[in-house]
Amino acid sequence: ETPLLVDRYGRVARDLRVSITTACSLRCTYCMPAEGLPLVPRDELMTPDEIGRLVGIGVRDLGIRDIRFTGGEPLMRRDLEQIIGAARTAADDGMAAVRGSGATPSPSGPRAAPERVRIAMTSNALGLDKRVDALVAAGLDRVNVSLDTVDREAFATLTRRDRLDDVLKGIRAALAAGLAPVKINAVLLPETLVGAADLLAWAVEHRCNLRFIEEMPLDADGQWTRDDVVSAADLLGVLQSRFTLTPAGREDPSAPAEEWLVDDGPATVGIIASVTRSFCGACDRTRLTAEGTVRSCLFGNEETDLKALLRKGATDDEVGDAWRAAMWAKPRAHGSDAVELAADAFAETQRSMGAIGG
Ligand code: GTP
Ligand code: 5AD
Ligand code: SF4
Repeated sequence: ETPLLVDRYGRVARDLRVSITTACSLRCTYCMPAEGLPLVPRDELMTPDEIGRLVGIGVRDLGIRDIRFTGGEPLMRRDLEQIIGAARTAADDGMAAVRGSGATPSPSGPRAAPERVRIAMTSNALGLDKRVDALVAAGLDRVNVSLDTVDREAFATLTRRDRLDDVLKGIRAALAAGLAPVKINAVLLPETLVGAADLLAWAVEHRCNLRFIEEMPLDADGQWTRDDVVSAADLLGVLQSRFTLTPAGREDPSAPAEEWLVDDGPATVGIIASVTRSFCGACDRTRLTAEGTVRSCLFGNEETDLKALLRKGATDDEVGDAWRAAMWAKPRAHGSDAVELAADAFAETQRSMGAIGG
């Protein structure tokens, strides 16, 4: 029996994404309803200790090598510094145990024997300027920032909050703190498409790696339709009227983004074509919700409650077994095992993006 998080299709999860809250300081229309998502009751949220314990099991016993905190908005947790700190300690201890035992197979290929587990977060950067130094001190390595446009009015309409300047301040603080590369995520919508070239120019100027993401049916209002998706092809048409783009492949085989060199580099722009060129076959991700359940896929509704196991006093082995069983059942693509499901179709999901964290 392999100790790794393997599924029936032979994929191995190396990348753990942990949602830690459903709260957010913005209300992006493609992600949340105007009133926000229902908040998880405080005692149902995973604590820093619980997150540390699961990270430790993931790294030491299950082969996890990358960790990313998401939300909602991770900065909404006042104990984010403690969460990162607990994850850092558990991940470093876990790696030390792996090296010491020589028992758990290490990943091969681009992710072979990393010096240390990388800890990242995906954030809207609001208030990041005030906390970035403490977060880095706690063990944060990288941050990806969600930013769809640098047009102030378009930003205010899309996020329902007039806070573009505060976001830009947060990004500058991340760069100043040495959190390079800062990646920027922009969801492709008609509104972002018109400002896409300006956003890319801004990103190039500030040495951020910009990636555009095709919108997936994870909006809280259920308004998504396949016909309205702004596609990678639409975007390329717009960008190529202002930049020369040369295909540069993926950062690693399981990376969601296909990269393009901008005007011969070194700047790049990435496209995450989840709808028109889906990448489920190379998926290496496992997810925890803020309530401490494992989700094997963004679109898979089966969840296994690891937090309940922890609170019942389960051993690390019992928790690891439950996690492996959950991942074994990971659906083939977009939350479904149906081979007749069109490549650009998605299983219906009970959680919106704000509750899964991308
Ligand atoms: P890096 O390691 O920094 O490149 O991070 P990342 O791209 O894995 O993380 P990020 O949170 O920035 O994710 C960017 C977007 O990629 C997410 O918001 C999703 O829209 C998309 N994405 C990530 N994982 C998956 C996945 O498993 N399936 C699909 N369909 N999309 C995904
Ligand atoms: N489709 C694709 N990406 C989305 N995000 C939020 N909602 C959607 C959606 N419906 C992105 C955000 C953020 C990341 C966590 O997910 O831009 O960067
Ligand atoms: Fe908040 Fe991110 Fe959702 Fe926007 S995409 S509402 S910033 S969680």
